[in-house]
Amino acid sequence: MTGFVALRLALSCLFILMGIASAHTGPAALEYPSEKPSVDSGLEIYMHNCAGCHGEKGDGLGKVDFTDHVYMINRNSSEFFEVVNDGTMNMPSFVNISKPQKWDSVAYVWTFWADRPSAMRGKNIFEKNCASCHGMKGDGSGLPGAFDFTNLSNTIANAQASIYFDSVSNGVPNTAMPPWKSTLSEKERWDSVKYVWTFQFRDYPVSSQAIPQVTTPITSPATPLEIPSAGKGWYNTPVGAAILIISLMMLAGIIYLFMKGVFER
Ligand code: HEC
Ligand code: HEC
Repeated sequence: MTGFVALRLALSCLFILMGIASAHTGPAALEYPSEKPSVDSGLEIYMHNCAGCHGEKGDGLGKVDFTDHVYMINRNSSEFFEVVNDGTMNMPSFVNISKPQKWDSVAYVWTFWADRPSAMRGKNIFEKNCASCHGMKGDGSGLPGAFDFTNLSNTIANAQASIYFDSVSNGVPNTAMPPWKSTLSEKERWDSVKYVWTFQFRDYPVSSQAIPQVTTPITSPATPLEIPSAGKGWYNTPVGAAILIISLMMLAGIIYLFMKGVFER
């Protein structure tokens, strides 16, 4: 009997340890915004902070081209957010932009791929063929078990459009999700996936209004060079430099007096 108790105790300790380990390494660390990201707000942030390197059309950097279909369909919003939030060797981490604003800038990045004409065609296809299960708003209200595409952390921010396209084409075995390969053309299937993608944003313009335009002029695409790690130390400011020079002079004086004392002895 006591053997059992000891075993159970050891097992629960093990599970607690495993829980702690996974809590520290799992994707739970990612902070999802409380409100869905805004393309509108993202446009402003993008033009001021990102366009300098990535280009106003999203194709400014050779290997990272937001208009490149194959590149985009294998990425997701969570990954993009992490890169924008943490920065990379060649990209600053933007200490002056809040986390929800970083999500907004990521939302805008997707518009280079899920362009408005495709998404609008997709909307028609979706409302005719898919909304009965997925709900007009993509929240899965039509059928229990159909995905809620408006829930970032649960599904869509971690999904890849390439996988969605696969599911739309071939269906999802053992679920109500039917294959559309023989009913919809390849282009129609991509358009519907692009429209589904827009459910993760709160204001993607798929109705009469146009893609929002920049309302304030781009101040300086030179902001890119505000790399925080190479940022200003106190010694890089005028006051800091003055203090540094004065201390060095005083140190030199002390050394001079000390040496003088030594030699005069
Ligand atoms: C100083 C130039 C620079 C600025 C400014 C900049 N980026 Fe980047 N970004 C890069 C480079 C370079 C890469 C490619 C990764 C690398 O080499 O570090 C990149 C990669 C990315 C990626 C792709 C990550 C991936 O995993 O494929 C995203 C998304 C991104 N940037 C978004 C943004 C957003 C949003 C902003 C503005 C808030 C921004 N970038 C500002 C240079 C920049
Ligand atoms: C008969 C109901 C039904 C219809 C109609 C339907 N779906 Fe689905 N769909 C589902 C269900 C249920 C799931 C969840 C499958 C699962 O549990 O993995 C799903 C899953 C999905 C997924 C997520 C797949 C993944 O890999 O995560 C996508 C994307 C999708 N549907 C798009 C569409 C599109 C686009 C249409 C219209 C062309 C459509 N669905 C029509 C029921 C439906």
